[in-house]
Amino acid sequence: MQIHIVQDAEAGGVVAADAVQRVLEEQRATGPVLGLATGSSPLPAYAELIRRHREEGLSFAAARAFLLDEYVGLPDEHEQSYHRFIREQLISAIDMPDENVASPDGTASDPHAEAAAYDRRIAEAGGVDLQILGIGSNGHIAFNEPGSSLGSRTRVVGLTRSTIADNSRYFASREDVPVQALSQGLGTILEARRIVLVASGENKAAAVAQLVEGGISSRWPATVLQMHPEVLVVVDEAAASRLELHEDYRHERALEEGELASRRR
Ligand code: PGA
Repeated sequence: MQIHIVQDAEAGGVVAADAVQRVLEEQRATGPVLGLATGSSPLPAYAELIRRHREEGLSFAAARAFLLDEYVGLPDEHEQSYHRFIREQLISAIDMPDENVASPDGTASDPHAEAAAYDRRIAEAGGVDLQILGIGSNGHIAFNEPGSSLGSRTRVVGLTRSTIADNSRYFASREDVPVQALSQGLGTILEARRIVLVASGENKAAAVAQLVEGGISSRWPATVLQMHPEVLVVVDEAAASRLELHEDYRHERALEEGELASRRR
């Protein structure tokens, strides 16, 4: 796990966008497969990718994308569906064909069958090359709430009270927040070849401390990422504020950047 501590969320967005750009360039011939997160954490990265598309010609035309999750019961056109969110925040502003963006169907008549079919669709696309992730204040990734099996697959999940409270800011009232979602499982997410997790703000500091320095446990589902060989954690100062080895991560990062710079010379 690599830890990159940045000044603020915007700087984190640039680091995450660099990782996406690298995958787009490396996988151009085969068609890159991106795993996209919704929520507020990835927005600075998406804004930076849109800027690079507009100003630098970064192209997503050959790329495909899979979303992590969708609320059960919300149709695609609902203003809080993740289907709609990703189009408003990213897809409509870049050149990725709309039909290349997949998400679980929250209105499927058999959501359990839909969940299994979603995992198959990801596998048929050759798996995810780069997964972008946020983290919940309770340590969830996607909607894998505390207690999720570390090997879980895409499935129907219930949202915890803390997640419903966190997400109620997007709905007219807490009662309007759906209580179930279709979510990629922790085992599904671990199959992505690379992962970039972005977090900012003090309310993420406890979850980030567990993610990086806690024991692997379904109590803090994101800790399962410690098992993945290629994870980059991009956190701002506030989200990093409870990391015990904060200074060591900075030091390691400086060494790596120095080495990269000398290789470039
Ligand atoms: P946020 O949500 O990016 O809106 O903070 C992250 C999450 O709950 O996974």
